[in-house]
Amino acid sequence: MASLPQHLAIIMDGNGRWAKKRLMPRIAGHRAGVEAARQVVKNCAKRNIKVLSLFAFSSENWRRPPQEVSYLMKLFLTGLEREVSMLHENNIQLRFIGDRVRFSEHLRKKIAEVESLTRANTGMVLLIAVDYGGQWDICQAVRQLTQEVEAGQLKSAAITPEMISERLSFADLPHPDLFIRTSGEFRISNFMLWQLAYSELYFTPTLWPDFDESELENALKDYASRDRRYGARHDLPLKSEK
Ligand code: IPE
Ligand code: IPE
Ligand code: MG
Repeated sequence: MASLPQHLAIIMDGNGRWAKKRLMPRIAGHRAGVEAARQVVKNCAKRNIKVLSLFAFSSENWRRPPQEVSYLMKLFLTGLEREVSMLHENNIQLRFIGDRVRFSEHLRKKIAEVESLTRANTGMVLLIAVDYGGQWDICQAVRQLTQEVEAGQLKSAAITPEMISERLSFADLPHPDLFIRTSGEFRISNFMLWQLAYSELYFTPTLWPDFDESELENALKDYASRDRRYGARHDLPLKSEK
């Protein structure tokens, strides 16, 4: 189906408010959020979506209380340990994007382990963004380019948008076609700033733990009705830029 997004990127937001509404601690919301994530992975794989990205922890989420941060880290670790064989059996390739330096040695090891276990899988790519920020991503790409300039391998005047693109995380994968944010917030919160340039944006008031298969279906239907023009005109044949 041409109108199915190849790459779906989701900001899974609203766990805290979901718990608060039920007079439960925030961590119960995060736990329910993991369950919703498991369901969306299953439902996207079933629909043959090529790439699913989930924003699990932003560069800015370190600003949260240490107890919440360490609970989230614990959830990643237990989630990885519990889910990896199911993902592997379903031919899903698991990848992580983000800065790993602040993670514990144990978590870094686990991430490397599941990445290498699932590397050769040819099904859906599940991209988990942890300690990820769009500004961090652009910054690390710029750092690579400036190193090449310093080494005399590149002239700064020769730098093109494509060269930046090639040095970003997941440069081998298509940019998101559809971006979903739950919980009624209308912002990007430093997610894939560069890669979202021409993504279709979809916002829903549903809190992440309540995002079920029918919610996904609604978003996909909405996407199928969008007219993606990329700055051009559909009533005329596409012209080259120069
Ligand atoms: C999203 O839920 C999960 C993370 C950011 C890790 P929140 O924890 O942000 O929930 P709200 O936005 O406070 O409801
Ligand atoms: C964005 O949600 C990050 C994740 C869902 C991982 P936040 O809840 O951190 O975003 P803000 O603070 O409302 O912008
Ligand atoms: Mg939030």
